[in-house]
This record gives sequence, structure tokens and C-alpha cells, in this order.
Amino acid sequence: MIHERVISKEVLKAILSRIDEAIHVVDLDGTTIYYNEVAARHDGLTVDEVVGKPVLRVFPSLNEDSSTLLKVLQTKKAIYNVAQSYTNVHGKKIETMNTTLPIFVSGQLVGAMEIAKDYSSMKRLSEQLVDLQGKLLSKKKSSKHTSAVSYSLDDVLTKNAELMNLKKEAVKLATSHSPILVFGESGTGKELFVQGIHYASNRSQSPFIAQNCAAIPETLLESILFGTTKGSYTGAVDRPGLFELAHGGTLFLDELHAMPVDLQAKLLRVLEDGIIRRVGGTKDLLVDVRVITAMNVHPKLALQNKTLREDLFYRLNVLTFELIPLRRRKEDILYLTDVFIKSFNEKLNKQVKGAEEKVKSLFLSYSWPGNVRELKHAVEYMMNVCEGDRLTYDDLPLLLKEVAPVQEKEMGKSSICQTSLREKVEKYEETLIAEALLETSGNIKKAARLLGIPRQTLQYKMQKYHLTNAE
Ligand SMILES: Nc1ncnc2c1ncn2[C@@H]1O[C@H](COP(=O)(O)OP(=O)(O)OP(=O)(O)O)[C@@H](O)[C@H]1O
Ligand SMILES: [Mg+2]
Repeated sequence: MIHERVISKEVLKAILSRIDEAIHVVDLDGTTIYYNEVAARHDGLTVDEVVGKPVLRVFPSLNEDSSTLLKVLQTKKAIYNVAQSYTNVHGKKIETMNTTLPIFVSGQLVGAMEIAKDYSSMKRLSEQLVDLQGKLLSKKKSSKHTSAVSYSLDDVLTKNAELMNLKKEAVKLATSHSPILVFGESGTGKELFVQGIHYASNRSQSPFIAQNCAAIPETLLESILFGTTKGSYTGAVDRPGLFELAHGGTLFLDELHAMPVDLQAKLLRVLEDGIIRRVGGTKDLLVDVRVITAMNVHPKLALQNKTLREDLFYRLNVLTFELIPLRRRKEDILYLTDVFIKSFNEKLNKQVKGAEEKVKSLFLSYSWPGNVRELKHAVEYMMNVCEGDRLTYDDLPLLLKEVAPVQEKEMGKSSICQTSLREKVEKYEETLIAEALLETSGNIKKAARLLGIPRQTLQYKMQKYHLTNAE
């Protein structure tokens, strides 16, 4: 028992000394009983200078009210995610996100613990980015090129009927003022699509500003989006947020489900009345911003696990676009392979004409979890290592080579068995149909003629293999 306790104490010590967060624990009297190296680095002190001493003696600038540790001892209530900004004894500016918790043993308060995450560098970088965006925009305004967008909906290349319809719908709805939600697996082209919508809208000459909502502490994201007012917290300055910078244009909020739910409530308010208020400010500002959001999870799932607020979802649900994964638009696999080969031919000064059959059939049966991005990278890799005028099986990236034998084995394990033969024939048939459709730009009549089968048969087979008409 004692042995176990010693081990768990040592394990705990090892864990605490290696994590990224600063940890500070005090007993009931406000005397420090644990203080890790990270905390010491933040404060510019040594562990020995703090441990065993009353908090207020080590940090004379604090008092009973301003010290969160002492406050928690008084109230017995946790304080979550409070931003703190201070200059340590070495004159270094530190920005932390603190959570302070009371510690109870058998229902009795025995002390308090503070966990602080340093986000100074993240904050500095984010602020620099906002400042830069602002400078860039004002420079572009004077040079008459206001938009930073580089893609249009024409750049969303597809032979898939469903995606073609989505593009048409996007063009129609681009001019609407309503917010939009685009969702789809990673790499399905959400960012491309969103930029395309902005470009097709009457805001194309106004700013397009993108912000990823993931992995940014709530208070920082809030001040990035809404701006800050001098004095709203120690060290705060007057700074416009992205809503102000995007005035007249589009604000793209990526990975919306990673935005803290409280902030989602604030976003909903802006979507409803178009009014923002800088953090710590008192003035209401009316902004004209079209908000487009994106997520790489299905909204249903995000609602289920409560990472997306229902009320916000219903506001966004007016215009939603689901970008289907590459494995469900097989005709795009070979089409985009060709597109990427051509583009890398130019970049790498090569004359590759296409991919060999074995590669094509592997591409068609692979599940592409990383979607178009993964396909693009695979082609890029193969184009770099390819020596002849065709991409061969040997050129495949290792990961794809690893899945290939599995697929071959599955097909070959019972090669005398009828189902396996049927599977093989079907795979071959699917490849031939996809190629014929590609060659005839999706013209079913011409493709059927090329394959020597009736048009109805081709249509039936296209349905069977999820190959849609690309006319
Ligand atoms: N239909 C398409 N035509 C041409 N290129 C595409 C298409 N879809 C995606 N791409 C390319 O694939 C890559 C990934 O696209 P994008 O960044 O838009 O994906 P995403 O859905 O935003 O992914 P994530 O969820 O990981 O952010 C980019 O290089 C993009 O240009
Ligand atoms: Mg993206």
C-alpha cells in the first residue's frame, strides 16, 4: 500500500513536471505547497523562492481580492478560464489563461490549485495577423484590388453531377446576404468552395477574411473577432476585430464546431442584428459582413455532442452545402488525377501522359480519407519520383502501396471462387466506364457507343458504381 502510494506520488510528480501548464497549489492558509517549473518560468522566479511561503509575500502586487487562489479559498468556488496579463520580475510580458479550483478532501476544503496556460506567443501572433490583415486591406483599397481571394467556383473542378449542382446553387445564392454553412470531410474543398462563393458574390471587390476557430482560447478568439478597447484588461489596446476589418465583405469562420459555445451565442447575436461591440467597449457598431462558416464534421454529430449550438445551427441552416467525399464521387478520382498530372507537368517541366491501369484501379477502390487533398499530394509525390511518361505502381507513395496488397490479397485469396472473380471483373468494368465517361466528358450516349453497350445498360451500371453523369 505504502509502496503503491510512493509510486503514484512519483508518477504524479513526473507528470506534473512535464506538462505545458503552470501549476500552483496552496494550502488553506494560502501557503504554496506545490509550484512547478513552468509556473516558475512564467513568473521569473525559482521553485524554491515560492514553495513553503505565503502567496502574498512572494507576489506583493497581489492582495486578498486580486489573488484568484485566495479568492477560491474564500468562496470555495472554481474560476474558469480567466485571462491574465502581467509583467514578471524580469520585465517579460506574460498572458495566461487561468483556471482556479478548490481542492476538497472528504468534503473538506484543504486548499486551492491554479492551472495557467501561457498563450502570450499565440496572442502576439494573432494580433500581428489581425494588424497585418488591416494594413494589407487598406493598402489594397488604395491600389483598387481589395479582395485577397484567389479562387473562384470555376476552380472547383468536378465531373460529378451532384457537386456540379451545388456549384450552380452556390452561384445563385452567392449574392444573398444570409449566412452559409459548408460542411464535408477534410480535404473535400470547403475552403476552395467558400472562396468561390465570395468571388461570385457582389462582395468580390471587398475583403475576404478567414479565421480558423480551432485551438484558440475563447477570450483570445473573442478579441480577434470583435476587437478590443483600451483598458478592457491589463495591457489591452484599441484594436479593431475581424468583423470590422471584413466590413462590406465576407468573414469565413472555419472549424466552427471548435468555437466555444458561449462565443457561438455572441456570433448568433451578430448574425441576427449585425451589431458588434468591442471587448470592454460600450459603443455598438453596425457592420455589414457576410458570414460563411465551415465544419469538417456533420452538423448532426456536432449538435449531438454539443459542440454546435442548436440556435446557431438553425440560423445557419438556411443555406447549407454538403461537400461529398471523394470516394462517393468516383468519376472525380480519375478526372482530378489527370488535372493534377497536367498541372504538375507544367510545374515540374515533365511530359507525363497519365497513370497505368493498375494505379487507376487502385485509385478507384481506395477510400481517400483525406479526399482531394490526399489525391493531390499522392499525384504530386508520384510526379516527382516518376521517370517515364506514365505514373506506375512503383511510383505510389508508401501508404498507398501498403493498402494495395491488402486489396489484391482480398481479391486473390479465393481466385477460383466465383465472387472474387466477379469482384475483379466488376472492378475492371468500373474502371473502363469511368475512363469512357472521362473521355467523352460525361456524354452517356458517346460513352455507351465507345464501350459497345446500350445506353440504358450504361446508365444502370453508372448507378451501380456511383458514377454520375457529368454532362
Ligand atoms: N474540386 C476540386 N478541384 C480542384 N482542387 C480541389 C478540389 N477540391 C479540393 N481541391 C484542392 O484540395 C486541397 C484541399 O482543399 P481545401 O483546403 O479547400 O479542403 P477543406 O475541405 O477546406 O479541408 P480541411 O477540412 O482539411 O480544411 C486544396 O489544395 C484544394 O485546392
Ligand atoms: Mg479548410
